[in-house]
Amino acid sequence: MLIPGIDAGNSRFKYAVADEAGNPKLITNRFGESFTPSAVFFTSDGSTIVGTEALNAGFAEPQRLVTNWKRAMGTDTALYIDDNGKEYFAMDILAILLADAKESIETKTDQVVNEAVITVPANYSDLQKQQTIDAASKVGIKAILLPHEPTAAALGNKLHDRNNCTALVYDLGGGTFDVTVVRSRGNVFTIIATGGDSNIGGRDFNDRISEKLLDEFEVKNSFRPQKDQDPIFYQEMTQRIEQLKISLSIQNQSQIVLSCQGKQLQMTITRQQFDSWVMDLAVKTMAKTNQVIKDKNLDISQIDEVYAVGGGAMMPIIIEQLEELTGKKVSRRCEPHVAAALGAVFAGRLEYKRKNEPYPNGDVVLPAPDYILHEILSHSVGVLVLDENGNDICNEILAKDTPVPSIQTKLFKLSEPDQMAVTIKILQGENGQDADSCQPLGHFELEGLPARPDMIGRIEVTFSLDNNGILTARARDNASGKTAEMEINYEISANSDANQVDAA
Ligand SMILES: Nc1ncnc2c1ncn2[C@@H]1O[C@H](COP(=O)(O)OP(=O)(O)OP(=O)(O)O)[C@@H](O)[C@H]1O
Ligand SMILES: [Mg+2]
Repeated sequence: MLIPGIDAGNSRFKYAVADEAGNPKLITNRFGESFTPSAVFFTSDGSTIVGTEALNAGFAEPQRLVTNWKRAMGTDTALYIDDNGKEYFAMDILAILLADAKESIETKTDQVVNEAVITVPANYSDLQKQQTIDAASKVGIKAILLPHEPTAAALGNKLHDRNNCTALVYDLGGGTFDVTVVRSRGNVFTIIATGGDSNIGGRDFNDRISEKLLDEFEVKNSFRPQKDQDPIFYQEMTQRIEQLKISLSIQNQSQIVLSCQGKQLQMTITRQQFDSWVMDLAVKTMAKTNQVIKDKNLDISQIDEVYAVGGGAMMPIIIEQLEELTGKKVSRRCEPHVAAALGAVFAGRLEYKRKNEPYPNGDVVLPAPDYILHEILSHSVGVLVLDENGNDICNEILAKDTPVPSIQTKLFKLSEPDQMAVTIKILQGENGQDADSCQPLGHFELEGLPARPDMIGRIEVTFSLDNNGILTARARDNASGKTAEMEINYEISANSDANQVDAA
């Protein structure tokens, strides 16, 4: 049995396993590729094709191809509807990609894979994490840990080996952007701040190029190709733009040729031009990076080392901006796009150490690593309460950056006399934030409360975070001893007629 690290990227899946000495090594997929494009093609006979072959099949029938799955996790957006009307959501696409990962890893290593460590963006919500676990479980993989991508990337760069070092990890992937500050002191490796923007990734840089090229195409040919009318053109353009962007990371200019309905565009794009098209995106990630540092009351001068990971960090403009922001040279201890997969293997070994169980690696058992990791919660979570003006607000129970795992209890009073039931609504949001602008995570009822005309007694609400940052909520009426637990129903609705609790 092997426990691979799977970096489940929006653009590409990367897999790693531990070698005999326990060091992570990247493994290629069964076609010998060092990564698998996160692409699923639905054939007309009801089967699926994954990876490069899916992209190739997509040239002929782009409407059967699904890419860019990640931003749709946790939403009710169907990414594909098959010929029988069956809808496929992001978690279904993830399950197909994970089944393929399992098959590739088992074929390449000749070992059984029943467990894996699967990376997730640092700012994934509880629901998105739960769906990741469910997708894995559907294809026979127990996700033993979901490390945050920048945490995994920090481990992949072996930052836990740096003694007395505070490091910034900037992670620009294909679909998401994460930033983390880590500190290693002796054998303790602590995540001290984390943040990001799940709506910025390499694909947005590609979109900028496509907008510009389509504008040029239109100026030159008095005709603008439309996605619904020229899907094959769009599929080809997507591939060529990807190649162009990668070329511009290496050389100062590159050529692109596009043709649609007998009309052509041939252009030479310089890196300077590209930089000017994407400057605001780069600046946005730098502002976020700065904010994560400042929110933690850190000064940039306290950052000893800076790491840029994820394929997006191959763009020279990113490195230039990051060096300008931090005043430090960007360091690299492994290839930027494989850091998270490598680190996921270290994270798996740490998880076995935490459980105090021997770590199985093929036919041998590896000793526990000699360091420990402290992860933190990336969002504040609380419950809906009424403020003194009767408005619905979030009352925070676990603050952002709380160490994981964690448990916290808070007391709340009833909102009216003789209240027989309380609805506990769990929100992802800041303390005092208007409930409508928070993300609802679920709700449950504490019922059968004794009538209390004087409203004496309190409702204890306890939030416990497991090792993956997944939340369980419990409520207890301390007058009657009645209890209830949250069964997350993930119903995205903030409205209910039941009574709320008031902050005590
Ligand atoms: N040499 C390069 N220059 C510029 N961009 C690159 C280069 N190599 C890869 N990329 C971009 O990096 C992105 C893929 O990187 P990576 O594999 O780290 O993302 P991912 O892990 O799939 O995505 P995410 O972390 O958002 O889930 C793509 O947008 C790709 O275009
Ligand atoms: Mg990634």
